[in-house]
Amino acid sequence: MSIKKNILIIPGDGIGPEVTAWGKAVLEETATQFGHDFSFDEALMGHAAIEATGSPLPDETLEKARKSDAILFGAVGHAKYDNDPTLKVRPEQGLLKIRKELGLYANLRPILLFDELLDASSLKPEILQGTDILFFRELTGDVYFGEKKRSEDRNTASDLMIYHRYEVERIAKKAFEAARGRRGKLCSVDKANVLESSRLWREVVQELAKEYPDVETEHMFIDNAAMQLVKNPKKFDVILTANLFGDILTDEASQIAGSMGMLASASIGDGTGFFEPIHGSAHDIAGQNKANPLASILSAALMLDTGFGLKEEAQRINQAIDQVLKEGFRTGDIANAITPPHKVLGTTQMGKKILEFLKHAVIIS
Ligand code: IPM
Ligand code: MG
Repeated sequence: MSIKKNILIIPGDGIGPEVTAWGKAVLEETATQFGHDFSFDEALMGHAAIEATGSPLPDETLEKARKSDAILFGAVGHAKYDNDPTLKVRPEQGLLKIRKELGLYANLRPILLFDELLDASSLKPEILQGTDILFFRELTGDVYFGEKKRSEDRNTASDLMIYHRYEVERIAKKAFEAARGRRGKLCSVDKANVLESSRLWREVVQELAKEYPDVETEHMFIDNAAMQLVKNPKKFDVILTANLFGDILTDEASQIAGSMGMLASASIGDGTGFFEPIHGSAHDIAGQNKANPLASILSAALMLDTGFGLKEEAQRINQAIDQVLKEGFRTGDIANAITPPHKVLGTTQMGKKILEFLKHAVIIS
């Protein structure tokens, strides 16, 4: 069945534009192959938006975002802000605001492990093989959005770590449902031995667990989870956690997939979905044709699957990536000097390779 969707592209900063171009190209190719009608619009966010309008999230971007069916986003950030914490207007504020405004409270980060990349990780292949984790990171609460204070003499600062019952409930429900459709295991990560907000978190998850007797629920402290994740990643199925813990754990987990350049994410709420690589703007390599476009391409696949329910289309993209990796093509971040050596490609060449394999897949099927 052919569908019609209106997709907003927000390339953002740093390597954002060069990788997002390939996520978009793959969506266009998919539309052609499967007879869907995808229309595209573009908008500014982050440093690019500050330069053009003074705001990291201009009203026009928010309006376009609200009208779209899904958003493909690149990254935000710029070197000039990283070492100057006093700057008041910052690129990241655009990302945080759009998450809040669109009610994107659940951030899904699948740790998808391509067999071909087992040797790209710094962890041992036998520890990694078979790992398949789906993170549910809460995205619109926690210290990210709690009250921020600085004393008058500027020598004391605080960020309020705060959760409300409904915020924990709505994401926990989504995580339990997902566990049901997977291997039936859910690990909720908190710091309930110290934090009151974590005790609320645990209480709510324990209550909900009664409604999901078919899901095996476990609770783990964040410090232990950070250790178990590299010790035995295979033991995890769905991991449910708060905003800050999830931010940190998913960067750690990216090493399981070989590189940050391989991980996609979906931020969802009750409306428009927002799809983005988990890597940042990487301004040190921006504009050099070095960035890995696969996370953006995988984000496009996640949009098709999670956002539009187009499973076959998403699968075809994953297969194309698998084939390209099997043929030994790599971007620098996932290349290894093995025998025979990998064929190292730039961003553009990798994007073109994926399109080539996508087109080829249609001819042979
Ligand atoms: C992420 C990023 C963001 C976050 C930054 C850019 C604000 O690290 O999406 O994981 O901390 O949520
Ligand atoms: Mg992060």
